Amino acid sequence: MTTATKRAHWHTRAGFLLAAAGSAVGLGNIWKFPYITGENGGGAFVLVYLACVTFVGLPILLAEVYLGRESQRNVVQTFETLHRPGSAWRIVGWLGLLSAFCILGFYSVVGGWVVHFGLKSVTGALSAASDATVEHYLEELFASPALLVLWHTLFMGATVAIVARGVSAGIERANRVMMPGLIVLLVLLLVRAAAMPGFGTALEFLFRFDFEALSARGALVAVGHAFFTLSLGMGAMLTYGSYLTGPHSIARTALGLAVIDTAVSLMAGVVVFTVVFSFGQEPGAGPPLVFVTLPLLFKQMGGGQLVAVAFFLLVFFAALTSAISLLEVVVAYASERFGWTRRRAALSAGAAIYLLGVLCALSFNLLAEVKLLGLTVFDLLDSATSKFTMPLGGLLIALFYGWVLGPRAVAHTVGRPVSALVCQVLLWSTRLVAPLAVAWLLVAGLVDR
Ligand code: PHE
Repeated sequence: MTTATKRAHWHTRAGFLLAAAGSAVGLGNIWKFPYITGENGGGAFVLVYLACVTFVGLPILLAEVYLGRESQRNVVQTFETLHRPGSAWRIVGWLGLLSAFCILGFYSVVGGWVVHFGLKSVTGALSAASDATVEHYLEELFASPALLVLWHTLFMGATVAIVARGVSAGIERANRVMMPGLIVLLVLLLVRAAAMPGFGTALEFLFRFDFEALSARGALVAVGHAFFTLSLGMGAMLTYGSYLTGPHSIARTALGLAVIDTAVSLMAGVVVFTVVFSFGQEPGAGPPLVFVTLPLLFKQMGGGQLVAVAFFLLVFFAALTSAISLLEVVVAYASERFGWTRRRAALSAGAAIYLLGVLCALSFNLLAEVKLLGLTVFDLLDSATSKFTMPLGGLLIALFYGWVLGPRAVAHTVGRPVSALVCQVLLWSTRLVAPLAVAWLLVAGLVDR
C-alpha cells in the first residue's frame, strides 16, 4: 500500500463507524472516566467534560476525519498534501506520531492489567476471593515486574497481529465482532446495577451539578480527557478517515461517534459508582477503582464468575480496538513514507513501542524511583499526552482546518444540503472557540505544574 491508488479502504461505511467507535471507546471510558470523575467531585466535572466534548471535541473530530478523507494520506503527509510539500504544518503530524507512540506505551500496560484480571476471573480466583484478597491482587500485580511485562507483551502482540493483517481484513473485522459485544454487556451490567442499593446515589453523584466542587484543575483534566476519549489531536481519527471514500457528510457520523463514546462513559460511570456506593466505598480511589470495585459487583451477581470473564474479555476488546488505532497511526506513516510492507511496519513500530511499554511496566516497581517532574514513566506519558501533546495537536489541527482550509472544507465536511448556520458554527468553532479554549487550558496546565 505505498501509493494512493493501491491504498486500503474500509469495506463498508458501517465498518468505519465501528472502527472509529472502537478507537474512541476504550480504557478511557471504562477505566479512566470513572476514576477521574471520582477524583474531581462528580457532577460538576461531568458537566464540564460534556461541554468540552461538544464545543471542543466535536469540531476537532469533524476536522480530523475530513483531513484524512480529503488527503487519503497518513498523519504527516496529510498536511503536505492539503497545504504544500514540505509545509511546516507537517510538524502537527510528527506531534501526532509522538503522541501515538507514548499513549500506546502506557496503554498497553493497562491492557495487560485487564488480561491479568481476565485470567483471574477465568480460573475462579476472583469470585472465590474475599474483598481484601481482591484488593491485594492489584498490589501483587504492581509488585511483579515479570507479570506486568508478560501481560504487556501479550497485549502488544495481539495489537500487532491485527494491524499487520490490514485495514479491512484486520482492523475492520476485529471491530465488527468486539464493539457490538461490548455495548450489549455494558447494558446488561447497567440493568443489574439498577437493582443495587447504590444506584440512586451513583446517579446523584454523576448528575448533580455542584459548582462548588468545580476547580480549574478539574476543568483541565476534563478537556484533556475529551481529547483522550475521542482519540483526538494525534491522528487516529485522521488516519481512519483516510480510509474513507466518497463525498458523504461526515457530520452525522462524527456526531454519532461522540454520542456513542459519551454514552459508554456515562454508563460505565453509573455501573462503577453504583458498586462503589453500594459497598460504602469512597469514589476518589484513583486508578485502581475499576480493578478493585468491579469484581465486587460480580461477586454479588448470580453467575458472577461468567459475567466477570465476559466483562474483562470485553474490556480487553475495548482496549485492544483502541490500541489498534494507535498503532495504525504509526504503521500508516511508516509504510507510506518508507514503502515498507504493512507487516514490516507493524512489527517495527510495535517493537519500538513495546520497549517503551516495558519501561512503563517497570515504573510500578523496579523503576519506581526514576522520576521526571516528580512523575514516574507511566504517569509522565499519561500526563504529557492528555494534558499537553494531544491538546496541542488538536489546537493546531483546528487552526489548520479553520484558517488554512476554511469555508470550502467546512462545506465539504457538512455535506449537502448545507445549512449556512451549521457551517458558520463549525468554521468559528475551529477558528476561534476550540483553539482559545485549548490554549487557555494549555497555559493553565503549565502554570499549574
Ligand atoms: N480513546 C481511547 C480511550 O478512550 C484512547 C485513545 C487515544 C485511542 C488516542 C486512540 C488514540 O481509551
